[in-house]
Amino acid sequence: MKDKYNRKVEYIRLSLTDKCNFRCNYCMNEEVKFMQDNELLTLKEIEVLVKTLKDLNFKKIRLTGGEPTLRMDIVDIAKIIKKYFGTFSITTNGSLMYYLADELKKNGLNEVNFSLDSLNSENFKNITKRDELQNVLNGLEKSLKIGLKVKLNTVIQKRNLSEIFDLIEFAAKLNLPIRFIELMPIGKNYNDSDFISEKTLKDKINEKYNLIPVKIKFGSGPSNYYLIKELNSYIGFISAITHNFCSSCNKIRISADGKIYPCLAFDYHISIKDVILEEDKLKEKIKFAIFEKPKRHYLSKLTKKTPMHKMGG
Ligand code: 5AD
Ligand code: SF4
Repeated sequence: MKDKYNRKVEYIRLSLTDKCNFRCNYCMNEEVKFMQDNELLTLKEIEVLVKTLKDLNFKKIRLTGGEPTLRMDIVDIAKIIKKYFGTFSITTNGSLMYYLADELKKNGLNEVNFSLDSLNSENFKNITKRDELQNVLNGLEKSLKIGLKVKLNTVIQKRNLSEIFDLIEFAAKLNLPIRFIELMPIGKNYNDSDFISEKTLKDKINEKYNLIPVKIKFGSGPSNYYLIKELNSYIGFISAITHNFCSSCNKIRISADGKIYPCLAFDYHISIKDVILEEDKLKEKIKFAIFEKPKRHYLSKLTKKTPMHKMGG
């Protein structure tokens, strides 16, 4: 379906829960308040939603959170998506993937984005507030072993800038694309002094490696990729702040409590919880949400209040 700026919107990011077992510094603190369980979309509601999204010709679903693997019925949700879409992808902190990868793959999972901001257990703890690096690495190893397609996501901040070569070389060794994400002023925890621009990052990478721009795409996201010839590997930049990519935006987000966010950068949302079991009304609301997608964001000028984990990452 096209929006009013003629962008084809065919990609859904569906959040399964706003809970997370990590507390990444830019995302949430220990005192965070989560949604009540009875506010979350139920299995039955998810089934109607997924069927309706298929009817509306959406092409791709990615499960997000919070941390989507914390949802106890994630395998049942996978089964539903498999029934209508065949396959799906997931964005995860990876800490539970060691236990879930097999079962999810059997039920349609084919692609996993791991959030990995550090390879140093102390710094990992400093960023996520949890001592989970080894569990994440085990989940990553398992996912690769069973043949899932994997990408790495690193939110770049001052506190992990010194790790970029370790991260790039780690990804290259495993033959995985790694994408560096510019920190966005979303939620209450954003701190301007953590921000590192794509330009600063590239200048630093150029001290060691040549970046050759390439047209390649891995998946349906907004990343711009470069080849590092010396390592024969690809790295991407997702730079919402300094390299706005709104003109090619192809997605909408649905939060765990059934709100459609037409754009990541606005608190504006359309609730579908009240109509979710009535397919015709639901269809109209989804179409309306697509129509309401704004032309672009102005994230560099405002701090958005709805945190990422509530809206869906
Ligand atoms: N800015 C940039 N990226 C963020 N993520 C979460 N919050 C922010 C933010 N404020 C990232 C996560 C994950 C993906 C879903 O979004 O680290 O990789
Ligand atoms: Fe959890 Fe992702 Fe937020 Fe980190 S960024 S606390 S992994 S939801």
